[in-house]
Amino acid sequence: MSSDATTGAATARTGAVRCRGVGKVWGEGTARELVALDAVDLDVAPGEFVVMLGPSGCGKSTLLSMVAGLDRPTSGLIEADGEPVREPGPDRCMIFQQSSLYPWLSVADNVSFGLRLRGRPKSERRQVAQRLLRTVGLGDVLDKHPDELSGGMRQRAAIARALAMEPRVLLMDEPFAALDVQTRAKLQDFIRQVWTESGASVLFVTHSIDEAVSLADRIVVFTARPGRIKAVVPVELERPRDPRSAEYHRLHDQLIDLLRDEVDRAFAQQEKVSG
Ligand SMILES: Nc1ncnc2c1ncn2[C@@H]1O[C@H](COP(=O)(O)OP(=O)(O)O)[C@@H](O)[C@H]1O
Ligand SMILES: [Mg+2]
Repeated sequence: MSSDATTGAATARTGAVRCRGVGKVWGEGTARELVALDAVDLDVAPGEFVVMLGPSGCGKSTLLSMVAGLDRPTSGLIEADGEPVREPGPDRCMIFQQSSLYPWLSVADNVSFGLRLRGRPKSERRQVAQRLLRTVGLGDVLDKHPDELSGGMRQRAAIARALAMEPRVLLMDEPFAALDVQTRAKLQDFIRQVWTESGASVLFVTHSIDEAVSLADRIVVFTARPGRIKAVVPVELERPRDPRSAEYHRLHDQLIDLLRDEVDRAFAQQEKVSG
């Protein structure tokens, strides 16, 4: 158990996710060496909703994929539930911008696919799929196939599939970025509800300041590459959050100020690469 002052609410119990001095150098020792992340200390407490905000290319996806166990840090340590992360596990589920459901399976079979791998009987799988699809507002599309669903419905099905594994941590990489504004607002409501009901921790990447302020317990702002934590902004507004409130506006402005220089730096980096 941690006595580290930075862990905040996580000190009483083991943190769901704990990153200490995490760095990632892609192509280390080659001509294409690139420092993506540097010395990131970040905790996500059990049940906490943490949003990562930062310019393109600052290493947010890299960090998420390392927490998922899909990549390894080149320095530092990542723990999930007190154990070093070495590989992907069902306790940590990743949801991407474009979900990849199996096109040949029904929606229900997609949702319960992980349970099939766990050897759970068919009747139980069907029941779980039914319950979760109802939770995400897709109770009547169990037997449809993914290509019959809209983008927003497919994302909801992907979230139901993740929930079927009863993860401790949901890792979401710009999950709503490809959706239209109205669908996105709906899915934000819905993810808030799923998060409350599941008790899972969420580590969520977005480019949208509004999405961050709507959803987060804490917003972690990253610098341009190499990504370092520039600021951690707690959001103490009651949910659901009122985008017209003075405090919402104050936070929004604060985040714009924090991001402005970093976005400029990230642009300058990109121009150097392409120029
Ligand atoms: N597999 C990889 N191999 C080499 N470089 C990579 C790889 N993945 C990402 N990068 C580089 O690492 C940096 C951070 O990328 P990424 O984590 O995707 O940023 P973000 O998600 O914040 O936009 C970028 O410069 C990107 O080009
Ligand atoms: Mg990314």
